[in-house]
Amino acid sequence: MLNSKVENALNAQINAELWSAYLYLSMEAYCHSEGLSGIANWFHVQFQEEQDHAQILFNYVVSRGGRVKLEPIAEVPTEWPALIAVFEHTLNHEQHVTSLINNLYNIALEEKDFATQSKLQWFIDEQVEEEESVQDILTHLRMIKDNGYGLYMIDKELGARVYTQASPLSATE
Ligand code: FEO
Repeated sequence: MLNSKVENALNAQINAELWSAYLYLSMEAYCHSEGLSGIANWFHVQFQEEQDHAQILFNYVVSRGGRVKLEPIAEVPTEWPALIAVFEHTLNHEQHVTSLINNLYNIALEEKDFATQSKLQWFIDEQVEEEESVQDILTHLRMIKDNGYGLYMIDKELGARVYTQASPLSATE
């Protein structure tokens, strides 16, 4: 059984993951409006992954006999001044999510909830990958600056990204 402090913190994280999904869907729409369908695909995969993150936590709360309580999803931005600003925002956001996961882990530590600590380990590792992949894209975008061919190549590369279900979900099916 989850204690209420951990349960509330997990519910808050479910909302944060769904907000992340909504943010990336908005970024996907922005990229389509700029004619960048490959980069839009990359954000669509982000959108799918964030839904997985919410689902993993949802399933976990249920498995521990807790109660999932869905809250409203706050508004997300719809416009950015340039493509690079979209990825700067993405990196800042992922760094913020890392701090949320760390805070959540800390609550599980304080409450001596070892099962939640174990479940959160996957998220801690995932955040390292999330930040690294966005940082790489930002580095490439800074390299090419306004070079149209470079942007074409990045759009092509990110267009090849394929969604795969997060392992904690596929392992339970
Ligand atoms: Fe759910 Fe991108 O962190």
